[in-house]
Amino acid sequence: MEEKKFFIGGRWMDDSTFKRLMQNKERTPDPMRYKKEAMHYRRAGRSGLKLPEVSLGLWHNFGSTDNFEIMRDMIFTAFDNGVCHFDIANNYGPRGGSAEENFGRILRENFSSYRDEMCISTKAGFGMWKGPYGDGGSKKYLTASLDQSLRRLGLEYVDIFYHHRPAPETPIEETCYALHRLVEQGKALYIGISNYNREQTEAAVAVFRELKTPFILNQVCYNLLDRRIEEDGLKEYAAEQGFGLIVYSPLAQGLLTDKYKQGVPEDSRMRKSFTLKEDRLTPALLAKLEGLRAIAAARGQTLPELALSWVLKDRAVSSVIIGASSSAQILENIKVDPTFTEEELAAIEAICKD
Ligand SMILES: NC(=O)c1ccc[n+]([C@@H]2O[C@H](COP(=O)([O-])OP(=O)(O)OC[C@H]3O[C@@H](n4cnc5c(N)ncnc54)[C@H](OP(=O)(O)O)[C@@H]3O)[C@@H](O)[C@H]2O)c1
Repeated sequence: MEEKKFFIGGRWMDDSTFKRLMQNKERTPDPMRYKKEAMHYRRAGRSGLKLPEVSLGLWHNFGSTDNFEIMRDMIFTAFDNGVCHFDIANNYGPRGGSAEENFGRILRENFSSYRDEMCISTKAGFGMWKGPYGDGGSKKYLTASLDQSLRRLGLEYVDIFYHHRPAPETPIEETCYALHRLVEQGKALYIGISNYNREQTEAAVAVFRELKTPFILNQVCYNLLDRRIEEDGLKEYAAEQGFGLIVYSPLAQGLLTDKYKQGVPEDSRMRKSFTLKEDRLTPALLAKLEGLRAIAAARGQTLPELALSWVLKDRAVSSVIIGASSSAQILENIKVDPTFTEEELAAIEAICKD
């Protein structure tokens, strides 16, 4: 007899998965979570804050149109394997704000006694509400946005608060001072910036240094296929100055996996979202991915394992923030081995720079 299937939150699931997810309501974290040695931790730059090498981001698959029980399952899978850093932003959804609400509900229902084991970050910088105060880098926007985020998350403070993208129309002194004040008010413990290039980072670092702000991270896009932080010198600057780089989209939103090996699946980000376009799948890219897969196989890894390990080989990188649409992806993605031979690195470069 064919197994019963349920269509919930935009996806089909079998009876046994459905039953397992329902049991998560009563689930508590695995007491063996730090004993499995599944995860290593690195300091965020020269700060005292340690981050798991692999963090979980809630940009996609945690919005109001997604399946809440799958979200809860992914948070458990991450936490039970030492992934204790969760990265969010005010506008993650869709609907903007709903990822914070969903994560806040999971915290309340399952993790209320585990807050001190978690590093939780949020951000403001993209358009969030109507009018002149819902976007940018002003003190007015950043202050109001963090207050809203804390309400949605049900928290008194976040561990890291980021300015999500540069806002050239706001003086950098105002943005940095606004972030600094939020630390003084106890609403954030550490400060980060995101998507700031080297020149913009230098300007922010000068102000943070003067204020003695606990600025610890720049959150940037970096992966085998996107080398902008190498090209503009940000990577060396981070190592020189002692702040960490925390890397987003390390799998190029799924391109650096086997997801698109046989075409574009219905349940993929490329189908469901505007952030990853089908025209990325050129014959040249597919050939590169095959070359990288061969190197991964020779190392006994899958393509995503290779891609994440490669980003982590660099000590300036404090953590990679992965996204996931299932617990199985998280389990695959925590298997990193950031040691490479010179030959392997040269072979990877020959493929990527081609
Ligand atoms: N600061 C910023 O401006 C900024 C920008 C972007 C992201 N971020 C942060 O970085 C986080 C991660 O970004 P991202 O989601 O783009 O990261 P990513 O890890 O490059 O891509 C994640 C996507 O790849 C697919 N995937 C992951 N593991 C897989 C596997 N083992 N096999 C097959 N497919 C797999 C899944 O897509 P499917 O849904 O298709 O399964 C998943 O949603 C975000 O959640 C957010 O916290 C920050």
